[in-house]
Amino acid sequence: MKKLISILDLSIDEIDKIFSIADIEKKLYQQYNNALEGKMLGNFFFQPSTRTQFSLQAAFMKLGGKVISCSDINQTRSGPPYFEPLDDMGHIVSSYCDIVAMRTINDMDTKLFVREMTVPFISAGSGNIEHPTQALVDLFSIKKYYKQINNNNILIIGTPRQRTINSFILGLSRYKNINVHILSQSGVYLMDEVFSKCSSINIAYYSSWEELISANILSSISIVYVDKIFNETKEYNYFIIQKDYLELMNKDVLILHPLPRTKELPKHIDVMPGAYYYRQAELGMYVRYALFLYFMNII
Ligand code: CP
Repeated sequence: MKKLISILDLSIDEIDKIFSIADIEKKLYQQYNNALEGKMLGNFFFQPSTRTQFSLQAAFMKLGGKVISCSDINQTRSGPPYFEPLDDMGHIVSSYCDIVAMRTINDMDTKLFVREMTVPFISAGSGNIEHPTQALVDLFSIKKYYKQINNNNILIIGTPRQRTINSFILGLSRYKNINVHILSQSGVYLMDEVFSKCSSINIAYYSSWEELISANILSSISIVYVDKIFNETKEYNYFIIQKDYLELMNKDVLILHPLPRTKELPKHIDVMPGAYYYRQAELGMYVRYALFLYFMNII
């Protein structure tokens, strides 16, 4: 039974297979028209979502499937007053659905939910630990833009203890010759459980743009991955991406953001040649489309 909880649950061959299907984009609708007719997705989001929730739902329905959804755990018996254990809920919904996608506030909830499941499961974001489908989208965006994922120097701007960055870095660890530079608050590093699994990539930390500039690496950056800064402090303004800094890089440097954005990515960056985040969100639907086809044994 296929389960996607960590991006590392997928081998490089599986990722390649998903990307080769996602690559046909809109033609997927014709090629796999009604491939999921008669199938039911359980789409459970116990934390807010725009992109992941709706792209999963849209992809499944465009393939001819049907969706039952719930966005409030308090509307289930796993909320008060019964607090039905989530492993029981996973057991029960396995008899109603052919596949389940779920976002949880707490990573332990995801692990408990899948314990007794008998149908495929896709994590749509698990606490602050992993967001594997977002990592697929991020990697696929790089592949679309540069035709390959190997051989990239990546600047990540954002607190390196969030599920998007964790899964992105773990996904990158599958590829060759990857250097990651992280700009964030000083003293905030990747979680040990993430760092220990990505020894194949070089990681360096910086706590200011000045530090990055004096390290003389900006001209070698091929991808800027912007994400949120948590625990806002007066340092915050330091990390807002500036056109001046982007201009120290290659003129069409790829700019990614999993979205939603806050202050760290001002609207005026949207006109930069490599600003790719709306396209990245669009590609998310094709990736999830291909993921369903793979998890439902159609490809
Ligand atoms: N990137 C992402 O997970 O966005 P949503 O929270 O809107 O799904």
